[in-house]
Amino acid sequence: MTSVQADTAVDTAAPLRFPTGFLWGASTAAYQIEGAVEEDGRTPSIWDTFSHTPGKVAGGDTGDVACDHYHRYRDDVALMAELGLGAYRFSVSWSRVQPTGRGPAHQRGLDFYRALTDELLTAGITPVLTLYHWDLPQELEEAGGWPARETAYRFAEYAGIVAEALGDRVELWTTLNEPWCSAFLGYGSGVHAPGRTDPVAALRAAHHLNLGHGLAVQVLRAALPDRARLSVSLNPAAVRPRTESPADQDAARRIDALATRVFTGPMLHGRYDEDLLTDTAHLTDWSFVRDGDPALAHQPLDGVCLNYYTPTVVSAAPEGTVPERNDGHGGGAHSPWPGADRVAFHQPPGNRTAMGWSIDPSGLTELLLRFHREAPGTSLYVTENGASYPDVPDAEGRFHDPERIAYVHRHLQAVHQAIREGADVRGYFMWSLLDNFEWAWGYDKRFGLVHVDYQTQRRTPKSSASWYSRIARSGELPA
Ligand code: NOJ
Repeated sequence: MTSVQADTAVDTAAPLRFPTGFLWGASTAAYQIEGAVEEDGRTPSIWDTFSHTPGKVAGGDTGDVACDHYHRYRDDVALMAELGLGAYRFSVSWSRVQPTGRGPAHQRGLDFYRALTDELLTAGITPVLTLYHWDLPQELEEAGGWPARETAYRFAEYAGIVAEALGDRVELWTTLNEPWCSAFLGYGSGVHAPGRTDPVAALRAAHHLNLGHGLAVQVLRAALPDRARLSVSLNPAAVRPRTESPADQDAARRIDALATRVFTGPMLHGRYDEDLLTDTAHLTDWSFVRDGDPALAHQPLDGVCLNYYTPTVVSAAPEGTVPERNDGHGGGAHSPWPGADRVAFHQPPGNRTAMGWSIDPSGLTELLLRFHREAPGTSLYVTENGASYPDVPDAEGRFHDPERIAYVHRHLQAVHQAIREGADVRGYFMWSLLDNFEWAWGYDKRFGLVHVDYQTQRRTPKSSASWYSRIARSGELPA
């Protein structure tokens, strides 16, 4: 961890060349783009329930239609091909392929992902599949959700169903996307589905996500051909103490434990760090962790993926302080940081994206190098990075988004820096291909390379799309 520092822009005269075979892609997630929530036997997920609960999502938005990708996937793949993308990361909707989260595979749901991956492969685009991007089948939530151990076993069973159906055509697999959000926003602060606000449930959920990951990797290894590459997408925090004072550094240590090490501990090292257990001992004795669980979560991986948007700046706060909800992850009455109520979050000065997130690409270099050290010999991927801006059309209906281009440009420089320092980074995926349902923010926040008019479903590539297309085709980042 370093203290708050100025952005380190790389001074480049010549274009930066990325390694041969580097994957240039874009990411999406099922609930954010598919729509068709009641079609072909799909049952509700926790996000259907949550988004239909008044007051939970800005504007009362839901994923009912979203980008209608379920019906338009052929056009969307054609668009990716036009943009010259080499890879596409998408997620599978659990309740489409195993309605209610139990029982046999559901053929019609699997057919959609077979058709999608066929379309991608025909277009020469590498599919990258995420098994779980936050849309737990509602019935599993009713049976206890991620705080219940049983959910980890259900997840492994579901992984087996998808592996059997798609293992012949997908080589790159990730188990979970950003389990921090599933556990701590879903069960701690309640700003994400299922909207529970119980710090112990959040810690239990984190553990069962770790366990589910390990069990799923075991199932995938057994079911998939040898060439399959298995990974997980984490959102580690680049935590910076606001000052070098011991109290601020301790706040940073506590947030690092709750944001990152709660997952990297078991998944990459087969243990929970002592400081995490001590910091939360007043809440729980962690007896939900059974002997052997951390070792089970620690399965050999071929890749580790990270999603990065903004750094996390913290300071110590006096007891009883209700931290301002100013980092997008909040604090306050229902904090997503169990046991860390004496921590304040800050936004460093400078430009911010429409999410209110500050921009600091050095956090991405730092995290890639950290994973390089912690998972030696493992390939790394940036499975999400990007920025939301309002994206207002000009008189001709075109979208010029120089701020998004600048954001991505600087973050790609940061990726290149990590590669120069030895990290084996194999791919970069922009969030997102399309504007889409931005969870609790609804459709208000746009992250796409491609603008979506939600009235007509018209897709219009923004200027960032043609800029990114040139990079994807050439493998070079202009100076
Ligand atoms: C993280 C999530 O994985 C994705 O679903 C979300 O839309 C982006 N970050 C932007 O917030």
